[in-house]
Amino acid sequence: MLAIIGGSGLTTLSNLQITSRKVVRTPYGEPSCPLTFGTIRGRPVVFLARHGYGHTIPPHAVNYRANLWALHSEKVQTVVSVASVGGIRRDLTPGMIAIPDQIIDYTYGRAFTFFDSDATPVTHIDFTHPYCERTRELCITAAQKAGEPVIVGGVYAATQGPRLETAAEINRLERDGADMVGMTGMPEAALARELGLSYAAIAVVANYAAGRAGSAAGIRMEDVAKVLKGAMARVRNILEHVVEA
Ligand code: HPA
Repeated sequence: MLAIIGGSGLTTLSNLQITSRKVVRTPYGEPSCPLTFGTIRGRPVVFLARHGYGHTIPPHAVNYRANLWALHSEKVQTVVSVASVGGIRRDLTPGMIAIPDQIIDYTYGRAFTFFDSDATPVTHIDFTHPYCERTRELCITAAQKAGEPVIVGGVYAATQGPRLETAAEINRLERDGADMVGMTGMPEAALARELGLSYAAIAVVANYAAGRAGSAAGIRMEDVAKVLKGAMARVRNILEHVVEA
């Protein structure tokens, strides 16, 4: 079973034929919202809105453990995460879609592991390649079939938010090797790995990262919303081909 976690700009899936909704309780509390079960082009899919259906949960307050546990408990094996990012690398301009292959984690104070109780033996997951290569390929092939250009690869920097970064922080992230910046990629990817889920992300560039727009202007949320609206239509098109694969 495939799950799609939708982020900013993707709180619903218009191409999803909904069959049921389910409130799932987990040992880690409640997920962001009830899980939506349905089909896309006849294939079963579970959808979860990361920030809640009303987009009310900020990135640092998302219960990532409950979200992934809930999906795992519903027999999900593959998770495609959709997340908006700021573009740091030159070619990652607003509206572009990328399938990142690496992560740098700058988040803090989040519940970031399932292995933190005395009851379980200490476990160190391998995270050399943070995304599932097979699921990345699935997304890349789907994009090709959908006729939607995507940038293959890139380093995703996960920041704490909810504020956007300073221009100096973006310069530092770039020196660190980051190509794009978002607030929700971690601990989501690591928790998925801890549960043995195959996880990959579709990153949608919503804006130039702070200081990168080539003007003194800051980042305006109205502009971000406009870009996301257009880009998410293309993401839905890609997702239709992901479920068909
Ligand atoms: N920074 C961090 N997260 C983001 C951004 C950004 O510029 N745009 C969308 N998510």
